[in-house]
Amino acid sequence: MHGYGIPIYLNVPYPFPPNPPHIPHEYNPVGSYRRQFIIGDEWEGRRIFLHFDGVKSAFYVWINGRKVGYSQDSMTPAEFNITQYLKTGENTLSVEVYRWSDGSYLEDQDMWRLSGIYRNVYLFATPQVHILDFFVQTDLDNRYIDATVMVRPKIANYSGQNLKGWTIEAQLYDQETIPVLYKPMVRDILSISGERYPQRGNVKFALLEAKFRNPHKWSAETPYLYTFVLTLKDNNGQVIEVESCRIGFREVEIKDGQLFVNGKSVKLFGVNRHEHDPDHGRAIPVSRMIQDIKLLKQHNINAVRTSHYPDDPTWYDLCDEYGIYLIDEANLESHGLKGYLSKVATWHNALVERAIRMVERDKNHPSAIFWSLGNETGCGPNHAAMSAWIKDYDPTRPIHYEGAFGRPKDPYYVDIISRMYARIPEITRIATDPVDVRPMVLCEYAHAMGNSVGNLKEYWDAIRSHKRLIGGFIWDWADQGLRKKSPDGKEFWAYGGDFGDKPDDGNFCCNGLVQPDRKPNPSLYEVKKVYQRIHVVPVDTMAGKFRVQNEYDFLNLDFTEIAWELSADGHIIQKGTLPKMTLVAGAEGKLHIPFKKPKLQPGAEYHLKITFALAADTSWARRGHIIAWDQFRTPYDVPPAPIVDLNTMPPLTLKHTVQKITVTGRGFELMFARSSGTLESFLFRNKQLIVSALVPNFWRVPIDTVYGSGDIVVDATLTPGGDNLPNLPRFGMQMAMPGRFNTLTWFGRGQHETYRDRKTGAAVGFYSGPVNEHIHTYVRPQENGNKSDARWMALTDRDGVGLIAVGMPTIDVSAWPYTMADLEKARHIHELPQRDTITVNIDYKQMGVGGDDSWGARTHREYTLPAKTYRYRFRLTPYEPILGDIRSLTKRGLPEMY
Ligand code: GAL
Ligand code: MG
Repeated sequence: MHGYGIPIYLNVPYPFPPNPPHIPHEYNPVGSYRRQFIIGDEWEGRRIFLHFDGVKSAFYVWINGRKVGYSQDSMTPAEFNITQYLKTGENTLSVEVYRWSDGSYLEDQDMWRLSGIYRNVYLFATPQVHILDFFVQTDLDNRYIDATVMVRPKIANYSGQNLKGWTIEAQLYDQETIPVLYKPMVRDILSISGERYPQRGNVKFALLEAKFRNPHKWSAETPYLYTFVLTLKDNNGQVIEVESCRIGFREVEIKDGQLFVNGKSVKLFGVNRHEHDPDHGRAIPVSRMIQDIKLLKQHNINAVRTSHYPDDPTWYDLCDEYGIYLIDEANLESHGLKGYLSKVATWHNALVERAIRMVERDKNHPSAIFWSLGNETGCGPNHAAMSAWIKDYDPTRPIHYEGAFGRPKDPYYVDIISRMYARIPEITRIATDPVDVRPMVLCEYAHAMGNSVGNLKEYWDAIRSHKRLIGGFIWDWADQGLRKKSPDGKEFWAYGGDFGDKPDDGNFCCNGLVQPDRKPNPSLYEVKKVYQRIHVVPVDTMAGKFRVQNEYDFLNLDFTEIAWELSADGHIIQKGTLPKMTLVAGAEGKLHIPFKKPKLQPGAEYHLKITFALAADTSWARRGHIIAWDQFRTPYDVPPAPIVDLNTMPPLTLKHTVQKITVTGRGFELMFARSSGTLESFLFRNKQLIVSALVPNFWRVPIDTVYGSGDIVVDATLTPGGDNLPNLPRFGMQMAMPGRFNTLTWFGRGQHETYRDRKTGAAVGFYSGPVNEHIHTYVRPQENGNKSDARWMALTDRDGVGLIAVGMPTIDVSAWPYTMADLEKARHIHELPQRDTITVNIDYKQMGVGGDDSWGARTHREYTLPAKTYRYRFRLTPYEPILGDIRSLTKRGLPEMY
């Protein structure tokens, strides 16, 4: 990315012709790195290690010209003891990084293929007797109240000195840094460093152990961490070394076909996350990680699958701290070779090693709740071996692996049935299968490529109604676009092929809920709503009676502030807050909203919205951040809007010529083309409102009725021209207005983009803003900006003059600062022009965006538009402020004229 080698984006195929374990030598870029560093006297007598957190794909290391070693598995650390190579003063470190190695056969993940040193590199020094490693497990009692802390330290004695009288001590500190164990756990070093393994039977895990009464438990909702400190002391009681990490008390169990955390059946509201930064590629700045984790938490996401490799170590610290459940996945994918490498014995060590390296690195993180044996590598004895090693070494976490997809049953060595992109009927079938009763997770679903993530709610209706469905991970978090500049200096998001990489998989790397710079795609709001954990269910809406369901697993609802508002046509007319509600996790309570019957306005629509917001600041959002909401129509029996009396309308004059029909009324003039019948010109107070005619695409010409008030009622009917026609993408009408009518106002769902199958996350309201803020610029430009269920919309200029379109009863609307042809043509965002016209879409309906996957799945049937006869009506009304409030004009009732 920074000038060395080109980024290559490929999904399934290897970036070279596969012939394992050989790789091509004609083209295999090598990065040579070299730097000087000073070793002072203070490290005299200590062991010095060189640590790499991530280097892709393989590398050699030299110190002062002497070869130290080699490593591969680019997503887990490599450590070298370099003591013997060093001298006091200046030293030289040289690293040679190979883009491809035989390890690349295990790294065929669908992502940008980048290489180099992309994570931290550091030196550290240890005493001659050293705490090499430790593993902490927490075991909760049967009631999930009291705990046992169990520790297994590993001590290295490099000097071989006699350790008689040496001890190791462990203590835990709470968040106020107060030691919580009545006395530290202590153990004599000799008994540990000389540990003898018995001939038969198991080795007891705990070398140090203590009971702890009722610790705070760790969960994604309550991420309480203790600081664990290990101290090594010599025979004089002198402190030789101190090691520490943060731990959490949590217990993961698979029981009764469900996932339990601390005894509670938990669902995973997940996303997959690749490590991707638009400017730094795979080298993710910590600030980016913090941005990600805050966004995840703010949008009710509680779980991440580290697809498809162990992430930067800092990510796990953040997940521990902010509270995210992780499926930690081994750096293993050989998609281009399918299942071959799992079957052949020569690859056994390489596969198992990737499991071991991940588990050893991440074993003390409470956030890691599942170990995943990689992705898309098939299954066979090598995966069975990975699982066996982990299960024996760390029985505290279940094993996940989608590649273990078996018929009729998944193999015994996975604890969870995992599927990707399985449709709702299929997951329901698995959830109720009497033969295999393991819990089921969707390790990937809702493929969020471009304008997508339709029918997410339907997935969760299914997941919530089957206890064995434990959740799903959307594919995926961020669009993997790389920031690039066009030759004329315009910035854009580059994807496959944009760096001269051929072959490539185009924009298939852009499947995110957020854009490369983490600006949300509209789908993120749908996710936030569908993933919310507080639900309001109407009992008697008009009487303000509701039930509240607390779907959190651990949180009492008293951490929220509840507010409500009653609106008329999207304008708030009453509002209030409610006292804090004490409702334990999993419980249901009553809610009474004390709104009063408003004075009913003719034709008005009333909605009641109830919101739950954070009552105090958290690490991821401020007080007031809304975590859940629901909206209900209050169906008052409102008087109908008064019908305008035709006789009171100013008269119209009609002029026919060969080409056109001109209709002139008070303050306006309309011109229809005679040949097509389309409205070509709409002059209002001498301003031209339309610059290109209101036209349908291929259905019959609509009927327009013109009123003396300037209202035009458009009545459009589509009659398909034959049988067996494909579904329609949309049925609507389009026109262009001059660019100065660039304020879009509507009453309908918003304010973000919605479609028929992705509108749960948008409340009905009154919204207004510049057209440019109500389009959405997908990484690869495409259909965007739709507003569902609009009762009306208006486009106005700076003086507030413009045109209103009123649905009869509703329309889907959008306005673009470019044409549909522009949108179709552009492949990157900078190729979209900004025109001086505004394209206005007034649709009956569009088909849903779909989203089960992006390669074969169709929009669910109920969200399609089969080719049949449709009819819809809407009214166009010219507007200027002296006519009154826009809303009052939208209420105008017109007499039927035909
Ligand atoms: C899955 C795969 C992901 C990604 C996705 C498509 O099959 O596990 O890595 O390729 O499809 O975007
Ligand atoms: Mg793949």
